[in-house]
Amino acid sequence: MRVSIFALTALLGSAVALDKIVIKDNKFFNSVTGDEFFFKGLAYQPENGEPDPNNRDPLADTVGCKRDIESFKDLGINAIRVYQTDYTKNHDVCMAALEKAGIYVVLDVPAPSYAINRAYPEWTTDLFAKFRAKVDNFSVYKNVAAYVIGNEVTNDDKTTPAAAFVKAAARDIKAYLKKQNITTPVGYASNDEPSIRDQLAAHFVCSENNSENVDFYGMNLYNWCGDMTFETSGYEEFVKQYASYPVPVLLTEYGCNAQRPRKFPEVGSLYGSDMDTVFSGGFMYEYSEEANNYGLASVTYGKTGVEKTDDYDNFKKALAAVSPKGVKMSEYKQSSAKRPSCPSVTDTWHVAPKILPPTPSSASCQCISSSFSCAIKGNVTDSDAGKAGDLIGNVCKDVSCSEIQTNTAKGEYGHYAFCDVSVRASYAVNAYYEDKKQCKADGFDTQTAKPSSKADSCADKTTDINTPSNNNGRVPTVDDSELEDLESGSSSGHRSSSGSSLGTSAAGSVSMLALASTQVAVVFAAAMLI
Ligand SMILES: *[C@@H]1O[C@H](CO)[C@@H](O)[C@H](O)[C@H]1NC(C)=O
Ligand SMILES: *[C@@H]1O[C@H](CO)[C@@H](O)[C@H](O)[C@H]1NC(C)=O
Ligand SMILES: *[C@@H]1O[C@H](CO)[C@@H](O)[C@H](O)[C@H]1NC(C)=O
Ligand SMILES: *[C@@H]1O[C@H](CO)[C@@H](O)[C@H](O)[C@H]1NC(C)=O
Repeated sequence: MRVSIFALTALLGSAVALDKIVIKDNKFFNSVTGDEFFFKGLAYQPENGEPDPNNRDPLADTVGCKRDIESFKDLGINAIRVYQTDYTKNHDVCMAALEKAGIYVVLDVPAPSYAINRAYPEWTTDLFAKFRAKVDNFSVYKNVAAYVIGNEVTNDDKTTPAAAFVKAAARDIKAYLKKQNITTPVGYASNDEPSIRDQLAAHFVCSENNSENVDFYGMNLYNWCGDMTFETSGYEEFVKQYASYPVPVLLTEYGCNAQRPRKFPEVGSLYGSDMDTVFSGGFMYEYSEEANNYGLASVTYGKTGVEKTDDYDNFKKALAAVSPKGVKMSEYKQSSAKRPSCPSVTDTWHVAPKILPPTPSSASCQCISSSFSCAIKGNVTDSDAGKAGDLIGNVCKDVSCSEIQTNTAKGEYGHYAFCDVSVRASYAVNAYYEDKKQCKADGFDTQTAKPSSKADSCADKTTDINTPSNNNGRVPTVDDSELEDLESGSSSGHRSSSGSSLGTSAAGSVSMLALASTQVAVVFAAAMLI
């Protein structure tokens, strides 16, 4: 008996799950305790010594993440925001170690090699596939608190068209997660560009159909520098502006470094009565010291050493001094919620209200491809994508290509504009062929073919919402020994208080990892009792 109880406790001790964070109206809540949840977060993207700088991933560096988790616990944070990760790598150990330490992860979905490009924005079958692969690779971890669909994509009044595609991406990833009964919120992180601030904030939440809106809105704010105050920094104005905003707002980045060491006076306001009724906390930028001088500590990929800057203790002290109480979920109802109307097109805002780019459909792209009588031979490689873009531009001066073109200001989206560049280039050369009877494409070989489908049957095929990625459905496995060197039991996280009992109410909030251990433990205990 003694042995079995001991074994049981040991197993559960390392497998206690973090409670799920949910949204009600404009606030985050702990779904188990019903307490309001505030992100006491830190931006986390150490770059020094990364073996593959074009493909960064701190959650795949098990030495690095375990090293920094000790700092996270010491600092008293409860969440990190991670910008770049690689869905072809394994994250089981770091994600389990973070969960054990009580740390949630807010994960950016794009990566440098697959993101909506603010200069040439599009939302394609290829991008959607990569975004699905990313969320599939991370949705198995119960401490993923939220996804960020884009960071400062539209960042001035020249790049507003990108906002149309980013909102379409949020809509489609939300629908994709919903299909799998995953309720992790999807939001956007905006820079604070005064000329388009109001339009952007309205754009992302203005749809009547809530499935098209982001679930939360983040602002990257650096206005509070040095000895400024709540009033002089302008933060007071933000609180007024967002008081009736229909979804939660948080600071997805903050921490002006005009004066170092930083003392973080804004932390008191963010988690105190100045702001805690409107903002759900935020993420201080950033953990690691990089060339831009925002770090709390210098660290190197794969190495254990941590060299703190003066900011480290200042941030720790500032956080230790706050304890936002918030409201209870059961008692809360936003009294002043007001859905803004979608911004109208102006000289500086180039997105038509209400009409979003369509959901990518590989079936439509395959269908239209097999309707071509003349096409590019083989697929356009990544390195030839620019050349293919030029080809499309040139050919489409002579023939009509509206089906592969978009105009966000007019709300016009061709049926095949979401197809990858190979299909679009072939669409253009086929249009040229039909018009001029010449099958040619500058810089590419072409081939003629006997069409096997009719173009006018290709527009409304099923979308890729139902197409899982290769990562879908896997259950992570972490050997407890991999987490042995980590002390458990940080007080910063919001753990399920019922985690140490085996009641069914606890089971609802345990992670798959915990569930696996629990089942083992129950079987083991039952055997010992007999
Ligand atoms: C994420 O993808 C990598 C590479 O395919 C794989 O090793 C890992 O197991 C995946 N993780 C999950 C949870 O699917
Ligand atoms: C999602 O939940 C619904 C309703 O409970 C269920 O019918 C469906 O099978 C679930 N889908 C998945 C992928 O788990
Ligand atoms: C709302 O939008 C979602 C996602 O595009 C769509 O699946 C759903 O049918 C829409 N609902 C209504 C009532 O239009
Ligand atoms: C071109 O790409 C498509 C989709 O990725 C793939 O199915 C097809 O096999 C490729 N064709 C060639 C010739 O490589």
